[in-house]
Amino acid sequence: MAAPQRNLEIKARDANPRRSLELALELGAEDRGEISQRDTYFGHANGRLKLREQDPGDTELIQYRRADEAGPRVSDYRLVPVGDADALREALDAALGTLVVVEKSRRLLIWEGVRIHLDEVEGLGSFVELEDPSGGDWLDELSAKLGIREPIAGSYSDLLLETSELLLKAAEAAMRNAYAPHSDFKVGAALRTPSGAIYAGANVENAAYPQSQCAEASAIGALIAAGEREIAAVALVAEKLDVCPPCGGCRQRLAEFAQPDTPVYLGGHETTTLGELLPLSFQLET
Ligand code: THU
Repeated sequence: MAAPQRNLEIKARDANPRRSLELALELGAEDRGEISQRDTYFGHANGRLKLREQDPGDTELIQYRRADEAGPRVSDYRLVPVGDADALREALDAALGTLVVVEKSRRLLIWEGVRIHLDEVEGLGSFVELEDPSGGDWLDELSAKLGIREPIAGSYSDLLLETSELLLKAAEAAMRNAYAPHSDFKVGAALRTPSGAIYAGANVENAAYPQSQCAEASAIGALIAAGEREIAAVALVAEKLDVCPPCGGCRQRLAEFAQPDTPVYLGGHETTTLGELLPLSFQLET
């Protein structure tokens, strides 16, 4: 079996991506431009297994093992070129299950052989990542020059799964406080904004039934009252249903503040997007 390739890597949140780009360019890093990447992570893997679809670039299957350490860490990986991305994604999903899909825009720069990734990750924010195939000769120097101080552990997939768990917990806590004596059907919703803040709400019923309010509407009210205007992720739970898709009206309510690719976590079992739940949604602007 061919030996895997090896990088020494470091990842950190990036409070000022524009400044990081300036610093990298000032160092004389070669700018390879923006790449839009979609990584599908599969379950039951030894280490990690993801299918990377990218534009520009070819689809590849990436198998890797990396220590979950916050400092510089070794990553052993194999890249396999893929001919039919859809077929492979479907086969691996059927066999292993999909854990999570990570979508990001990556600005790639190269300095002394080190890959500098300036990543905008959907639902997570901005990150800087360094990958040094020389085994770390340049990593410390470059980290210092780019002002990387607090490296983080884990992968984007872990971070996304953690945030969905956090959001689901907030939705569950709200659900327990739901006022639903008429239907006996408690629902909880939680919304995350791009800044990472979470707003939750529960359904509030009324003896005059049409006056009842869905959990999503309650959560949107809390988000708006806090001065926020954007929804980056949605979690929805119901006491009596494992998967409780939002009602039609609430899909439209969410669409007012979210995007078609905004993730919607339905219980812990299903992840979809608002665009899938509400295609061709009504918008005032044409
Ligand atoms: N409900 C929600 O809170 N959200 C939805 O998306 C679907 C329905 C509530 C409304 C009502 O209080 C109860 O569930 C039964 O319909």
